[in-house]
Amino acid sequence: MARDISVILPTYRECENLEPVVSRLEKVLEGWDWEAVFVDDDSDDGSREVLLRLARQNPRVRFLRRVGRRGLASACIEGMCSSAANIFAVMDADLQHDESLLPEMARILSREKDVDIVVATRYAAGGSIGDWSRSRHFVSRFATKLEKKFLRTELSDPMSGFFAIKREVLDKCIHKLAGKGFKILLDIVLSLPERPRIRELPYTFRPRLHGQSKLDFIVALEYLYLIADKLFGGFLPVRFILYGLVGLSGLFLHLLVLGLAYREFGLDFFLSQSLATLLAMISNFFFNNIFTFRNQRLKGSAFLIGAFLYMLICSVGAIANIQVADYLFSLKVPWWVSGAVGALVGAVWNYAVSTQIVWTWFRDKFVSSKKRISLS
Ligand code: GDD
Ligand code: MN
Repeated sequence: MARDISVILPTYRECENLEPVVSRLEKVLEGWDWEAVFVDDDSDDGSREVLLRLARQNPRVRFLRRVGRRGLASACIEGMCSSAANIFAVMDADLQHDESLLPEMARILSREKDVDIVVATRYAAGGSIGDWSRSRHFVSRFATKLEKKFLRTELSDPMSGFFAIKREVLDKCIHKLAGKGFKILLDIVLSLPERPRIRELPYTFRPRLHGQSKLDFIVALEYLYLIADKLFGGFLPVRFILYGLVGLSGLFLHLLVLGLAYREFGLDFFLSQSLATLLAMISNFFFNNIFTFRNQRLKGSAFLIGAFLYMLICSVGAIANIQVADYLFSLKVPWWVSGAVGALVGAVWNYAVSTQIVWTWFRDKFVSSKKRISLS
């Protein structure tokens, strides 16, 4: 027999919120056959001991410990995959979501055939965000507007992290999910082959009592990444676009250094060009490591060796670039087309090879698996 509802709770450093959230679930879900699945990313604040104890004491509580990975969205996906229930509710474990909505969510999804997803929303009549800081308010509004402009789902609160979904609906999109960042609901809605039928329930977002929010700059970047991925991902990998943008910044730096060294300081052209190339490569490596490959970021000595490897690879890319450009030019192709095609060939080589060698092969060999935490 399947349980009526499985509540999936992603947790990272929520030690003090775990017991209270379980007792609240027990209260509101009385009379239902429910389970709670905590998916914890190896928190170092004592959460593991608490979750083990809760799971041992209470047959309704399950605990999935993930190691070497971080990420709210992927935690929710794995939590749902670990459950045999027919209805999944995803809810934060920090008591900010109003758990009293859960029975209504379960009721709607178990009885109504024409609803796929029930979303708890802060922005519909009757809902609110409680007392948020002005900057957080602004960021949330801005993110919502961005979604409205580019993706146009019918969600009044596309950022919501509190919703319930039927198993068969999840099954339709599970292979397409990006699984990155915080926006699991948006990811699901955008990955489904047809627009899902959504029911919204308003609620008030509560202030946090214990612990801290994990929403930071990187999470915001990941949101933009998700939007870009859903917009262009079909034909151009977003990572390659990021790589191209970093390359463009490198080109500017290159010209700046070249101009300064050659024109201002009167250095020899060959020397100036070499200096500019070296600095641009270092800068490109640095920014690619921060943005393009932020999930596989290299640190410490791995950073230094990685930089060296990257420069080696890019030198080969530069040779390929010049060879191709030169060949095309000799066939009387206009100089700027030859140059651009050469640069593109070099960039594709650099991208493909440095992805495989620097941020994959080398990283797997050199960085110990414990440190290899990736945001997935
Ligand atoms: N397993 C796991 N791994 N859990 C995580 C991770 C992670 O890397 N990061 C955060 N969580 C858990 C937290 O422990 C918490 O239970 C829940 O995910 C939400 O994280 P918060 O850090 O409290 O997020 P928030 O309150 O700032 O953001 C909430 O509101 C947003 C709306 O603006 C979340 O509900 C978001 O999903 C929502 O979009
Ligand atoms: Mn929170």
